[in-house]
Amino acid sequence: MSQRESWATRTGFIFAAVGSAVGLGNIWRFPFQVGQEGGAGFVLIYLLFIASIGFPVMLAEFVIGRRTDRNPVGALKQLGSGKLRYAGWLFFTTGFLILSYYSVVAGWTVRYVLLGLQNEYVGDVAGAEGQFLSVASGLDAVFFHALFMLAIIAIVGLGIQRGIELAVKVMVPAIIVIMVGMAVYVFTLEGAGEAYAYYLSPDFGYIASEWQSILPAAAGQAFFTLSLGMGVMITYASYLGEDRNLAEDGLIIIGFDTAIALLAGLVVFPIFFSAGVSPGAPGAGAVFVTLAAAFGKLSLGGILGAVFFFTVAIAALSSAISILEVVVSYLIDEHGMNRLSATAIISAIIFVVGLPTTYDIQVLNLYDLLVNNILLVFGGFILAVFVGWVIYDFALDELSKGIGDLGPWGTTWLWLLRVPAVIGLAVVVLLGIIEYYDFLVGDFATWFGDNF
Ligand code: PFF
Repeated sequence: MSQRESWATRTGFIFAAVGSAVGLGNIWRFPFQVGQEGGAGFVLIYLLFIASIGFPVMLAEFVIGRRTDRNPVGALKQLGSGKLRYAGWLFFTTGFLILSYYSVVAGWTVRYVLLGLQNEYVGDVAGAEGQFLSVASGLDAVFFHALFMLAIIAIVGLGIQRGIELAVKVMVPAIIVIMVGMAVYVFTLEGAGEAYAYYLSPDFGYIASEWQSILPAAAGQAFFTLSLGMGVMITYASYLGEDRNLAEDGLIIIGFDTAIALLAGLVVFPIFFSAGVSPGAPGAGAVFVTLAAAFGKLSLGGILGAVFFFTVAIAALSSAISILEVVVSYLIDEHGMNRLSATAIISAIIFVVGLPTTYDIQVLNLYDLLVNNILLVFGGFILAVFVGWVIYDFALDELSKGIGDLGPWGTTWLWLLRVPAVIGLAVVVLLGIIEYYDFLVGDFATWFGDNF
C-alpha cells in the first residue's frame, strides 16, 4: 500500500476541523434554534452540552483516529471486539446519507447567491415562499446539487494536502472575516437593538415548561455542529502525527465553532428586525424564505444577501468535503482504490441517493430527522461506550501523547464519557426515535397520501 497521507502543517488540521464544524449548522440552523427554543436559555443549555458531552466525544474520536491511522470502518474493526467491530459501518452510512441531502441544501444557497446578484429576492413572505419552492425542488435543485457535488469532488479528489488543506486555508479565514464584517454592518441597521434583545435574553419560563423538547434539540445541535458521531474527527485525526496536544486542538476547534454560531445570530436577527419580518418560523425552508423576504425589503438587500449566502455556501463546502473524506478514506484504506476514482464513484452514488430530496422538502425532512435526531447521536453513544468502557486504557495513553501527564483530567474525561455522555445520549436517541415515529405516521404519511 502506498504511504498514507498526512496534514502538511498544524494549522492545516485545525482549519480543516474548524471548516468541518462550521457549516450550515452554525449559520443557518443555530440562530433559528435559538429563536424557537427560548433565546439565551437555549444557548446556555447548548453550551453545557458542548462542554460536557461534545468535547469529550470529540477527544474520543481524535484518539481512535490517531491511534489507528485509519478510516472509521477500519479503525473500529481494528480496535473493537464482538459487534463493536462493525460499528464503523454506522458512521459510513450516516456520512453517506448526510452528504446526499446536505449537498442539496448547499445547492439552494448557491442559487440564492445568484438571486441576490440579480436583485431578485421577493420582499414579501408569501412571494418568497413561492420563490423558495422553485429553488428547492425540481430540476433547478437537481442542477445545483450536481454543481455542488462537483465542487466537493474536485477538492477531495486532489487529496489531503493539495485539496482539503489548501481549500480550508482559504475558506475558513474568509468565513470568519465576512461574518465579522456582516455583524458590524448590521449593527448599523435600524431595529438592531430590538433584535439583540430578542436573541440574547433568556426566557426561563419557556425553558421550564419546554425542557423535554429543548434538551434533545440542544444535544442534537451540539453534535451536528461539531461534526460528531459519524467519524469525521476520526478520519481527520488519522492524518495527524503524535506530537499534537489533542485537547488543546479540540478546545480551539470548539471555540471557533461556537463563536461563529453565536456571531451568526448577531447577523441574522438584526436583518429580520430591520426588515420587519417575524423571526422564528420553524422548518428547513422557512429559514430561506424569511431571510430572502428580509433581504428583498432592505436597500442593498441583494448584495447583502449574496454575500451572506456566499458565506453559507463556502461554510457548507468546507463541511461537505469532510463528510466525503470519511467515505473516500474507507475506499482507499480498505479497498486500495485510488483517491480520484474512489471520490468520483462514491460521489455519483451519493448524488443519486440525494435526488429524492429534491422532489419535495418533506423527503428532505425524512432524511434530516433520521440523521440528525437518531444516527449522529447514536454514533456518539457508541463512541462514548467504546472509549469510556472498552478501550479506555490505551485511549488515555493516546491522549497523553503530546500532552504528558494528564493529571486528574484523564479520569475526568473518562467519567464524562462513561456516565453523562452514555446516559444523556441514550435518552436523546430514544426521544429521537419517538419523534421520528410520530413524523412517519403523522406529517409524512399525510404528505405521502396526498402525493401518491
Ligand atoms: N458541522 C456541520 C455543520 O454545522 O453544518 C455539519 C456536519 C458536518 C455534520 C460533518 C456532521 C458531519 F459529520
